[in-house]
Amino acid sequence: SRVEFEQPDGTVTAVDATDGESVMRSALAHLVPGIVADCGGELSCATCHVVVADDWTAAVGPPTGFEDEMLDATAEEREPGSRLSCQITVDPSIDGVRVRVPASQW
Ligand code: FES
Repeated sequence: SRVEFEQPDGTVTAVDATDGESVMRSALAHLVPGIVADCGGELSCATCHVVVADDWTAAVGPPTGFEDEMLDATAEEREPGSRLSCQITVDPSIDGVRVRVPASQW
């Protein structure tokens, strides 16, 4: 399914992501800048922070318990649409989803 990554400068990279993989993995696979993912998806680094675009937050859903706590430790202040991209699974129900990459992950 398609995932769009919007950079802080407004540049958008659309990738053809593999269903069943995380948004984080699809960013790394397509060399999208700004997703560090230091822990490799183990939910222990918070350097895979993205902000889901307003019109996609309902479809993507909110962060779950521990992810929600981790989002308090992101480099860029969390926003209502903030998620950790290793915890978002790409699938056809969110085909075309747009996420914003924060200015910093450290
Ligand atoms: Fe570390 Fe997502 S990759 S929390």
